[in-house]
Amino acid sequence: MLRVGLLTSGGDCQALNATMRGVVKGLTNNVKDIEIYGFEDGYKGLIYGNYRLLTSSDFSGILTRGGTIIGSSRQPFKLMRVPDANGLDKVEAMKQNYHKLRLDCLVILGGNGTQKTANLLHEEGLNIIHLPKTIDNDIYGTDLTFGFHSAVDIATNCIDCIHTTASSHGRVFIVEVMGHKVGWLTLRAGLASGADVILLPEIPYDTEKVCAAIDKRHNSGKKFTILAVAEGAIPKEWAKLEKKEMKKAMAKMLEKYPSISYKLAHDITEKTGYEVRVTVPGHVQRGGSPDAFDRYLSTKIGAYAAQCIIKQQYGIMVAAAGDEIKKVPLEDCAGKLKMVDPHDQTVELAKSIGISFGD
Ligand code: F6P
Repeated sequence: MLRVGLLTSGGDCQALNATMRGVVKGLTNNVKDIEIYGFEDGYKGLIYGNYRLLTSSDFSGILTRGGTIIGSSRQPFKLMRVPDANGLDKVEAMKQNYHKLRLDCLVILGGNGTQKTANLLHEEGLNIIHLPKTIDNDIYGTDLTFGFHSAVDIATNCIDCIHTTASSHGRVFIVEVMGHKVGWLTLRAGLASGADVILLPEIPYDTEKVCAAIDKRHNSGKKFTILAVAEGAIPKEWAKLEKKEMKKAMAKMLEKYPSISYKLAHDITEKTGYEVRVTVPGHVQRGGSPDAFDRYLSTKIGAYAAQCIIKQQYGIMVAAAGDEIKKVPLEDCAGKLKMVDPHDQTVELAKSIGISFGD
């Protein structure tokens, strides 16, 4: 009998269900006796022993369904070694529940933080496979994460919609794109939607340069300008600060504005007199059905994970390398962030067609 645990942790995204379906189909097609346990709401389910036995039919018809059928929650890695309010040792509790169910392995779908805990459990001796999920595409060691492609489509569509309004009203529009501390989503959606200015956390912006880019368009007869701004974008004054000081500057900004885009909008109006509107699509970017590419990618990642389980290859992340799927040892990727290189070819090509990065 093969016993496999599944959990989805951190912010949800498209294609979590599609990936689990791939894993389960890959197993049930090749292994006779198998039990699949789904832990509810991420690591919380593993810590507190909340799980349910799942059957093949649970994974039927979920290829196109967004969200996750087993629920998710954020359980910060830095608190994993800190006992809970009742003094429970979370790591020990997770190990006990794993052993109580006599699991052969645990498949964990999640982003960066989730991966760090997955590696911790691997170091504690559990058989772990991590599958890279996030709309942010910031997981080191994989070219792509599932969820990213679908989110690019949504963010692109949002900016497309703003385009028609911006051109009718002759306004400056900021669309704030998710991505946490990295700019992959903003870069891709910004380019795909024809944004005029793209601001990324990896390329701190100079407000004067942003205003100059808007002025340049205006002076050339264009009535409107669209800025795709990453939620983690930072002005260049902050980039010079120590981490602690930067956090303080950010906290101070957040006392006055809901996010960096609103501060930028204020600064642009102050310097240029242009009317600026901010749109924040927010969690819409994580919602709905996975697009065709994410279904394709996640099905392959899931199927590959099933093969790893059958071969008893653990302590790995299943990654995308071009159109291939491969495995990467968890210790080689856990705790690392994949960021946009400011000299990335995409950035250079975008600049060559006149897109400003505010630098
Ligand atoms: O990591 C995915 C993500 O959507 C980020 O882009 C964003 O910064 C964050 O999660 C939002 O988290 P929450 O859903 O907890 O508000």
